[in-house]
Amino acid sequence: MNAAPSPIGPRGPGAQGQAHAQAEAVAIAAERRWVFVVAAIIAVLLLMMVFTGLHWAAMPPSRVETVDINTLHLKGEFVESNLGTAVDADGKVTVRLIAQQYSFEPQCIVVPAEVPVTFRGTATDAIHGFIVGRTNANTMLVPGFVATFTTSFHKTGEQLMPCHEYCGTGHEAMWARVQVLPREEFLARARPGERMNCVPR
Ligand code: CUA
Repeated sequence: MNAAPSPIGPRGPGAQGQAHAQAEAVAIAAERRWVFVVAAIIAVLLLMMVFTGLHWAAMPPSRVETVDINTLHLKGEFVESNLGTAVDADGKVTVRLIAQQYSFEPQCIVVPAEVPVTFRGTATDAIHGFIVGRTNANTMLVPGFVATFTTSFHKTGEQLMPCHEYCGTGHEAMWARVQVLPREEFLARARPGERMNCVPR
């Protein structure tokens, strides 16, 4: 059939030339397909950017609730006497806390197990954050903004709550504790209007 290709001869209009033209047509078709695939990928990425930009500008993950850091300690929700765990008349549990270089206030937080707990926190100086043990209680604390989320704790006992945003030289020493009490024990200790912390040890 085919003669052995000559290493130096020009490609003629023979069977070999035809095979070459066919291979080129296949390659061009494949490349054209990839042009469409890549264009589609780029279009999807651009659409994602536009969507997340517009959508999250209207509703960023931590909400846009602002607080004035200059008067934080003087008035409003985050004065010292209002920090800690509050139980409202309707049974809602709210933890309010502040992060600053390099500690949390309160240093030890007490919460009930199996009850939705709303955290409300902010920072006074730099960006901090916290995670409670291996739970999903996890947020950033940004000066000027109130971070808030609601979660339930299923395991009683004490959990560590470290700062997880690098905030300066004392970052690794910045942590608090969270005591998760059985629901009844927690409610027995709760007083209306009072802010709870852990028992001093
Ligand atoms: Cu506060 Cu790291």
